[in-house]
Amino acid sequence: MMATRWLAGATLLAANTLVAAPVEPQCPQPRFTDQAPPAYYQRQNPLENSWGNRRAGRKIYRGDAIDSVNCAGCHGKKGDGAGPLSGYFDPPPRNFTCEATINGTPDGQLFWIIKFGSPGTEMPAHPALSDEQIWQLVLELRRLAED
Ligand code: HEC
Repeated sequence: MMATRWLAGATLLAANTLVAAPVEPQCPQPRFTDQAPPAYYQRQNPLENSWGNRRAGRKIYRGDAIDSVNCAGCHGKKGDGAGPLSGYFDPPPRNFTCEATINGTPDGQLFWIIKFGSPGTEMPAHPALSDEQIWQLVLELRRLAED
């Protein structure tokens, strides 16, 4: 028991020393993500922009709702693309707080990328999320852009 704990601690320490520093938030930020097919691109968020829906989206975004889903780890709690893991990815995660990059990106584009991921980048697909949960996330991303 003691030994196991010590080992776990040592592994954590070793991992810490290898950690890449988070990226500096970039704005405007180059976009390496493909455009969604028209059927998705043109979709509008069917959910009401309500407190409850935004709150549900925030919990998923922060990793507090579904074990396998944590957007903040890469995109940052504030959505600035500078989460704790961000330094590992090239291109870096999207900065949702950057108006120059995110304004004009339709809801359907955000939905499509969250659902299917972005080939050629580390943005993963999210098969664990229902369509409703993805739309709740889209509301949260819009809120992060306004903060
Ligand atoms: C493993 C790290 C990682 C995780 C986890 C992650 N992302 Fe990403 N995300 C990225 C990267 C890298 C990109 C690509 C940026 C680019 O194309 O320039 C990206 C791109 C995006 C885009 C593209 C927007 C556009 O410009 O079209 C959206 C939307 C997005 N992520 C939302 C999310 C959401 C919501 C979650 C959680 C459900 C999430 N991401 C989880 C790394 C991640």
